[in-house]
Amino acid sequence: MFTVFRGGRSGAWRVTRFAPVKGASLSPTPALSVVHSLTIALPIMPSPTSWRLAGVASHLRYAERAEKKQLDASPAEIGRPEATYAALIPIKKSAAWWELTQEERRQIFEDKSHHIASSLKYLPAIARQLYHSRDLGEPFDFLTWFEYAPAHADEFEELVRTLRATEEWRYVEREVDIRMERE
Ligand code: HEM
Repeated sequence: MFTVFRGGRSGAWRVTRFAPVKGASLSPTPALSVVHSLTIALPIMPSPTSWRLAGVASHLRYAERAEKKQLDASPAEIGRPEATYAALIPIKKSAAWWELTQEERRQIFEDKSHHIASSLKYLPAIARQLYHSRDLGEPFDFLTWFEYAPAHADEFEELVRTLRATEEWRYVEREVDIRMERE
């Protein structure tokens, strides 16, 4: 199953902020829709100013048993009614990252950057879903999606700031930060 994000004129999410963080941006759109689809080719693009990005929810690569246990202990579902804020942050890492071995990447991701250890405290306030895109030949390697209630907006900013200051983020060569709101 593919998850397709489409930026355009319509969609369940109204875009409130559209910020290029690093590298080339995407064209800002007023709305965003999320579609789960059996085919990557859909939906058809209605206008030249819109864009689509696809990814697949996949298995864990780096988390170890104890971390998985901690993650599972604070389940935060996507689609909670109170979570009216969302963020889509597409990320591409550099060739240098992908040339590392799995063990070397784990070392940077967790032992040095504490990606999981320092993010766990934001659960379950921030619901998250990671989509992998790299093997689909997409422009980004990852599509990261977050949903939270307006009351947790400051915490989300803090989380994003913390991660962007890590060694892991030195390998990020393209990142766009799209924030949304729904009724
Ligand atoms: C991957 C946890 C917030 C970007 C992951 C993984 C976990 C995780 C468990 C997967 C590790 C694996 O494959 O075994 C969390 C938690 C967060 C959080 C608990 C807070 C609620 C964020 C934020 C961003 C982000 C805010 C973006 C700004 C990523 C990326 C990956 C990832 C790009 C893929 C890394 C790779 O495979 O190279 N995160 N994360 N995460 N996360 Fe987070």
